[in-house]
Amino acid sequence: MNSNFSSAPLALVTGGALGIGGAVSRRLAADGYRVLIVDLNGEAADRVAAEIGAGGGEAEALTADVTLPAGVQLIADRLAQDPAAPAVLVNNVGDFRPAKAVFHKSTPEHWEALHRVNLWHVFAVSHLVIPSMIAAGRGAIINVSTVEAYRGIPGNAVYSAYKAGVSAFTKSLAVELGPSGIRVNAIAPDLTDTDQTPADAMLEGRDPALTASWLPLGRFGTPDDHAGVVSFLASDDSRFVTGHTIPVDGGTLASSGWYGRAGERGWTNRPTHA
Ligand SMILES: NC(=O)c1ccc[n+]([C@@H]2O[C@H](COP(=O)([O-])OP(=O)(O)OC[C@H]3O[C@@H](n4cnc5c(N)ncnc54)[C@H](O)[C@@H]3O)[C@@H](O)[C@H]2O)c1
Repeated sequence: MNSNFSSAPLALVTGGALGIGGAVSRRLAADGYRVLIVDLNGEAADRVAAEIGAGGGEAEALTADVTLPAGVQLIADRLAQDPAAPAVLVNNVGDFRPAKAVFHKSTPEHWEALHRVNLWHVFAVSHLVIPSMIAAGRGAIINVSTVEAYRGIPGNAVYSAYKAGVSAFTKSLAVELGPSGIRVNAIAPDLTDTDQTPADAMLEGRDPALTASWLPLGRFGTPDDHAGVVSFLASDDSRFVTGHTIPVDGGTLASSGWYGRAGERGWTNRPTHA
């Protein structure tokens, strides 16, 4: 990292350019962190870093693919130039794609691709950063899981298994690192309007009013809804919170299987319409 950076605490956000990661980068910069935005999409990462800088915050873009050892090495090279250990690591990269209609038609190559993008890099980047956090005697790691770590999702059995792995890793790592002053938590998003899961595609010709029957809070999530929770988990306000995955889902996990009916007619677990 270049020497122009101040002594503000360093936050590293993987997939920190767009979607949830983009909102997290902006929020952590607003919270006073200098943010290292690690993203495959270098153009978007540069743009977000420039926007943060123009707004008075501090951010730097690093183009890297966290699913590859070479990408993780780029992060290592960059951190080696920085006098400070990351105070915050947000392992945000994840993708349900490629999805398959049914598990028995998926292939080992498909499992491997999902492993790389959903779990492997969480291990690899955490493994890289943790020794410097231990040396500093503090740190907050925030992983991004999904509600499907807790709830079945047909067509995405492999993805959900790896995300359940992210939440299990979060718990065990929190126990391991608690004595070193490092907290490890996760968020579990659902139904959030991003490039990966655009609200338009989720609606796909359906009546937008149906949204109120799918989510108790009556709307799709926004990336900023997640950024606020990540900010809390990074902050001293959550100093006694570790090992947990917090659903950020508008209530879908709580209501799983229950749908609001039109006309204030309550809820049903047996919807009669598609
Ligand atoms: N959007 C949702 O409704 C939803 C629901 C459940 C879980 N999630 C989880 O939230 C996280 C973010 O999701 P999103 O919807 O914002 O995703 P997104 O696809 O909209 O954005 C992902 C960001 O990560 C970057 N990226 C992708 N692959 C990368 C790689 N290999 N190396 C570095 N950067 C990479 C992209 O360029 C982009 O900036 C993921 O872990 C996802 O599984 C999202």
